[in-house]
Amino acid sequence: MTHSLRKPLIAGNWKMHLTLTESVRLAREVLGGAPHKVDVVLCPPFTALPAVAEVLRNSPVQLGAQDMFWESHGAYTGEVSSLHLKDVGCRYVLLGHSERRRYFGETDQQLQKKIHAAVAQNLVPILCVGETLEERQAEQTFAVLERQLITALTGFNPIQLSSLVVAYEPVWAIGTGRTATPQQAQEAHRFVRELLARQWGDPLAQSVRVLYGGSVKADNIDALMAERDLDGALVGGESLKPAAFLRIVHFHA
Ligand code: 13P
Repeated sequence: MTHSLRKPLIAGNWKMHLTLTESVRLAREVLGGAPHKVDVVLCPPFTALPAVAEVLRNSPVQLGAQDMFWESHGAYTGEVSSLHLKDVGCRYVLLGHSERRRYFGETDQQLQKKIHAAVAQNLVPILCVGETLEERQAEQTFAVLERQLITALTGFNPIQLSSLVVAYEPVWAIGTGRTATPQQAQEAHRFVRELLARQWGDPLAQSVRVLYGGSVKADNIDALMAERDLDGALVGGESLKPAAFLRIVHFHA
């Protein structure tokens, strides 16, 4: 059961799915059933952000983006910045999703710059970390998490990191239907929290929310959320299905 200091957060990562019309429809359906005791965040594709922002206006459901560039403006064709995200009403931004690391070569050093830009604009960064299957089999899980977190968070003080959210997403569990067991997830989450405590002190470590992502579904969310260091979930495929996503945000822990 999540520590009382930390409000649970469930985010839906819609990835490169849904048209504008489909995004608006899904946002309306989620909004109609969202609870208040949980922070719910929707991360549509960039093109749907303004329209979904309009649906969510004055509601407790928050808007997030799936990525951004680290510069605030300039000659960077094709990129979207923290200023653009603020301008359309985003409160959150996913950074370092494993699909961005894998297909677009995003590095921990680049993520450090992106987190800097997010913090400067008062956007809540959701930093995604997690090991591949090969790394887990080679017993490198903790080493990978440590490298990803320490490099991306170098140079920040606890005040700058006070809004940080970490999402532990083991790559082998993403889109595979193979969820980490609650014990595997708890072990990784506890490692993340202990690392944060060692580097930035216990008060920060106790306030940072650590989400689990990777084949989260209506029928496994309750067992995951029963673990002490799981503060929520980052949901991919199931966030596209209104009934399933609403069951997830109404988890019982
Ligand atoms: P799935 O829930 O589809 O496994 O995706 C997880 C994910 O990548 C969320 O960011």
